[in-house]
Amino acid sequence: MRLITNLFLGVSAAVLLVGCKAGGDYQGLEYAPNMYHSVAYEPLKQITDKDAGRWVNSLDNDRGEFYNSNQYNPFAMNMRLPAPHTVKRDARGWLPYRGANDSTGLRLANKLVNPFETSPAMLDQGKVLFETYCKHCHGPKAGGDGKVAQGVKIDDVEHSMYPGVANLQGDAYKNITEGHIFHVITFGKGLMGAHGSQVSEEDRWKIAMYVKELQKK
Ligand code: HEC
Repeated sequence: MRLITNLFLGVSAAVLLVGCKAGGDYQGLEYAPNMYHSVAYEPLKQITDKDAGRWVNSLDNDRGEFYNSNQYNPFAMNMRLPAPHTVKRDARGWLPYRGANDSTGLRLANKLVNPFETSPAMLDQGKVLFETYCKHCHGPKAGGDGKVAQGVKIDDVEHSMYPGVANLQGDAYKNITEGHIFHVITFGKGLMGAHGSQVSEEDRWKIAMYVKELQKK
């Protein structure tokens, strides 16, 4: 009996150890591989060819990439188009900003009120966002002296990379409102590009709050 137990233990250990060996093309034995390699549905996948990418599959079931796209949606897309005539709201129920991208829109934006109350936590978030999206041009204190605005010296010749970045500490900008900043981030202005598609509405308000805070310093 003892011999059998020992043999059993020995063989089990050997099997386990063999299973641990992996490398090169051999990835080792896996227990329940579909738990490790969950099928990733990518939103923009659109694979219409049934035979596409059979060799990419880790499950050895002869199914390829096609089966990672949604075969029931139009164009085999994983992401569905929104229902017609619907308007997207975010988790707070906010509708998209409807201000117009013109001088009237900018003037009206002056009166918009930041939906967030100023608080240290909000300003902390605003700081992180400002440093991600604005600092490289406007500088750490919004003084118009970011790395991109400064320019580079190549062979002793100064090249300006992005001239004309506004110094938001200057007198001309001291009195701009948070609504104005929100609008400018959304649509850009003059030489500054629009950031509305990259930065969410909520985040734009947090940045606007932080810019006003920087101006106090
Ligand atoms: C690629 C460089 C660049 C980035 C990034 C950038 N800006 Fe600007 N910004 C500019 C330039 C250049 C101007 C001057 C525009 C002009 O007057 O033609 C400007 C102007 C402004 C103004 C003044 C607009 C006015 O009323 O005249 C504000 C406010 C502003 N930026 C805020 C921001 C904020 C907030 C961010 C981050 C979300 C940001 N900018 C990101 C380049 C940039």
